[in-house]
Amino acid sequence: MARLSDDFISEIKYRNDLGELAASYMQLKRRGRNLVGLCPFHGEKTPSFNIYTENGSFYCFGCGVGGDVITFVMKIENLDYMEAVKYLAQRAGMALPEDDYDDSMNRLRTRIYEANREAARFFYSTLNSPQGAEGLQYLRSRALTDRTIRHFGLGFAPDERFALGNHLRSRGFTEAEMIAANLVFKSRSGNSVLDRFYNRVMFPIIDVRGNVIAFGGRIMTDQKPKYLNTSDTPVFNKSYNLFSLNNAKNSKEDSLILCEGYMDVIALNQAGFTNAVATLGTALTTDQATLMKRYCKEVILCYDADEAGQKATQRAIGILRNVGLAVRVISIPEGKDPDEFLRKYGSKGHAAFQNVLDGSGNDLDYQLSRLKSRFDMSASQGKLGYLNEAVKLLCTLDNPMERDIYASRLADETEVAKASIVEQINRGLRQKNRTRKREEFSKLQKDISARDDKVNPQHAANLRAATAEENLIAYLVHHPDRLSYIHERLREEDFATDFNRKLYAYFSRRILMNTDPTVTISADFTSDEQSKVYRIINSYEPAGASPKALDEYIGIILDEKQKPSEQEIRNSTPDEFTSMLSKLKEKRQ
Ligand code: UTP
Ligand code: MN
Repeated sequence: MARLSDDFISEIKYRNDLGELAASYMQLKRRGRNLVGLCPFHGEKTPSFNIYTENGSFYCFGCGVGGDVITFVMKIENLDYMEAVKYLAQRAGMALPEDDYDDSMNRLRTRIYEANREAARFFYSTLNSPQGAEGLQYLRSRALTDRTIRHFGLGFAPDERFALGNHLRSRGFTEAEMIAANLVFKSRSGNSVLDRFYNRVMFPIIDVRGNVIAFGGRIMTDQKPKYLNTSDTPVFNKSYNLFSLNNAKNSKEDSLILCEGYMDVIALNQAGFTNAVATLGTALTTDQATLMKRYCKEVILCYDADEAGQKATQRAIGILRNVGLAVRVISIPEGKDPDEFLRKYGSKGHAAFQNVLDGSGNDLDYQLSRLKSRFDMSASQGKLGYLNEAVKLLCTLDNPMERDIYASRLADETEVAKASIVEQINRGLRQKNRTRKREEFSKLQKDISARDDKVNPQHAANLRAATAEENLIAYLVHHPDRLSYIHERLREEDFATDFNRKLYAYFSRRILMNTDPTVTISADFTSDEQSKVYRIINSYEPAGASPKALDEYIGIILDEKQKPSEQEIRNSTPDEFTSMLSKLKEKRQ
């Protein structure tokens, strides 16, 4: 990536206050010098998201994500680094230095978009040519009208291995670009490139900005795989995108219908339900739920009626509720998927599906009715079992009014006094509160240490040294004037962990060059790395950072360096081991 100057990044940060920007996405409360709120990047009920106003950074103790104002915009607006910089520059009315923006990764992404668009055109015109007759007939046999085919830009990849590659080459695309777009791949011999998609009807996947980002291709027989999809590319990640969100975002509905397949979404659109979307051959992810939340308040789950679909429904309910979406669940009669259902009703499809929609319950209704079917409600034993499980479900409701309504309903259903049901619920809530606090705490610790492992895999095996290293780094960043003092006592080689050594070298170099040590962290480190860096920097406590503390950190690092490593101990012969032990004892005395 072409580098933007430090001054430019400084200016961007200075002109875009993180606290103020974040406040337009979330509720923030002041706590001392910091701002705290519910983390926008994961679901939580007690705030662990901190903004450090002093240095314009954030860190979430719940999910371990951290960064500066640029990182914040990247994550919340789903942008890459340069896009986020551009966004913030515009927000602050600053001009972007031209050549800096024109970096190679951005150029490649642009070329991939162009190659995809050209491929979509190629598939579409092939479908409408004699070569595409079989494809067109297939789509018509699935009851799609020409208008629908055009609206979705459906196409056909001919039964040849070089058709698209040759076409794109004739339009000036290089092999590297086609490969990066995952439209072709190198043959095993390496002598030629082959089309990824052939003899399939093609479904372009288009993002909310109108870019063709990927394709799904369906085989017209019972062969497997039924659908072939674009693998991840620099412009496409299947866990971040949804099929047909580009159409759904324009729908007037305040809800999205989430289905399993391409064909379900297309059939729903054809029947007038333009707010349908589908995941792209994967289980629903939190990123997709967060994406949906930008466009709706409620998601209507419309998965297949089979056991797998019901399992997926249970899972999706949790994910959707976690990001704060309301959920309704549709069950389509006779175990059909929406496409089959609509086809069965033909021209009456709209009314029939609307009827199913109107009859859909919220997620709790769905779960209660599934629960009820497991118990024999004519026996008191069965009723009791149902009640116990149902009360557990009601305890997951945050809204007391909602809990009360369902308590009344349960009382009617089971002929048990409402007061005793309410008492059960309250007991469950108290219990849940205790467990939740415990769980959040242990999750916090687990998350943080798991992240540590990834970024600094040597941390766990060198706990004492690594902790001192981190304290020292935080100290250095807050007291750059102490650099030479530290350098006289501590060399890079003295560090026990590679990542902390790299940080020490990085901050030292920047301080030596007289630049702000932290200003370009978001450009110089990966997302996981910078989360960790900001955790280290922001865990600095002025009270615990006296010159004496600094000497202690240095002492620990040097002391730990003397000790044989776990590895050395494990690989030592008995004699070596004895000598290591006696050396250690000498040192102690
Ligand atoms: P289904 O197997 O339920 O197929 O897969 P479908 O949507 O009903 O497809 P039709 O009606 O037979 O054409 C649901 C979704 O899972 C993904 C696709 O996105 C599909 O729409 N999938 C399925 C794949 O990515 N690859 C496969 O091989 C199968
Ligand atoms: Mn289907």
